[in-house]
Amino acid sequence: MDDLNKSPIPPVSSSQASGSPRFKAFDLLATLVAVVRTDGCVVFANAALEDALGSSRRTIEGSSLSDCFTEPQILKHALEGAGSNEFAALRYDAWLRRLNHEPLPVHVVVAQTDTPGEAIVEMLPQEQQAKQEREERLIDQAQANKELIRNLAHEIKNPLGGIRGAAQLLQMDIDKELSEYTQVIIHEADRLQTLVDRLLAPHRHPHLVGDVNIHEVCERVRSLILAEFPRGLRVVRDYDTSIPEFRGDREQLIQAVLNIAHNAAQALVERVAAGDAQIVFKTRIARQVTFGKQRYRLALELHVIDNGPGVPDTIKDRIFYPLVSGREGGSGLGLTLAQTFVQQHHGLIECESRPGHTDFKLLIPLP
Ligand SMILES: Nc1ncnc2c1ncn2[C@@H]1O[C@H](COP(=O)(O)OP(=O)(O)O)[C@@H](O)[C@H]1O
Ligand SMILES: [Mg+2]
Repeated sequence: MDDLNKSPIPPVSSSQASGSPRFKAFDLLATLVAVVRTDGCVVFANAALEDALGSSRRTIEGSSLSDCFTEPQILKHALEGAGSNEFAALRYDAWLRRLNHEPLPVHVVVAQTDTPGEAIVEMLPQEQQAKQEREERLIDQAQANKELIRNLAHEIKNPLGGIRGAAQLLQMDIDKELSEYTQVIIHEADRLQTLVDRLLAPHRHPHLVGDVNIHEVCERVRSLILAEFPRGLRVVRDYDTSIPEFRGDREQLIQAVLNIAHNAAQALVERVAAGDAQIVFKTRIARQVTFGKQRYRLALELHVIDNGPGVPDTIKDRIFYPLVSGREGGSGLGLTLAQTFVQQHHGLIECESRPGHTDFKLLIPLP
């Protein structure tokens, strides 16, 4: 009895601990998850929680989860509540203590499990929550854009053929001086046709899947950009050549990177004139990254960084929307298409921009 009092938390038996297949799937989550007994003792800590706390699973398991918080009392009460069936799930905000780091603000969800005396504690870092919401918005937006563009393009395309045909017939029957007008109709119909074809192209062509080397993609784009801006622009390569090839559509990715790099080059006109314009292609491998709602073990990052004036504040939140352009004569489609292409590779494009430093980051999961 005395012994029990001294050590109120009996050791976790090995059958319960991390080896247990019951909890294995939690390691795939980006959310921090602990399975605890209602006395607070950790039965299982997932990989994300290990990362966040900066200590190993062995250390965390068997210790008291409450002590990982700056205010241990709140979790204690929550677990007591869960133990006595006062609620099915409870949410609150708290701070997690971390080794050698500032405390981490998290949103905590305590929920009962099927096993009596056991609860699941989910801790969602608040910055991560905001990031996840932002990324979900980007993905939803891209999906909506795709449908909007496809439908709109079809609506325009169908009558266009008729308009052009009718103008041609008319042209045969009218005087020479009036044919100037039918010429305008035909010319404009052709221009719209080209635009519509551009809009439909990414949706019509089947995905041509092959092995893609991201540096081949970058090199191709680099030479295209340098051909257009032979003077006053440096295109610097900062490659991690260990990045493996992956399955994808090379042409689509070239188009996506070209659209981004092209914008950068256009934003740089003044610096090109001054002779110190610079675009950097930087590739890196990212481990255990989360985007969208998924956690990926490996992903490639391609940054296209320019030292131009930055994305105008007025359109910053909307640059991936179709028809949003900050340039005279811009179509506002470049980034929409780039985002569509990258998402077809289960990836995402994000942008961070301030004057002198604009960074478009392409993330693509690697096998
Ligand atoms: N690297 C960049 N620096 C500054 N502004 C940028 C950059 N990339 C994109 N933008 C802004 O985003 C807008 C949208 O780009 P995009 O979708 O390619 O359409 P478009 O180039 O036809 O305008 C651009 O018009 C520009 O204002
Ligand atoms: Mg563009």
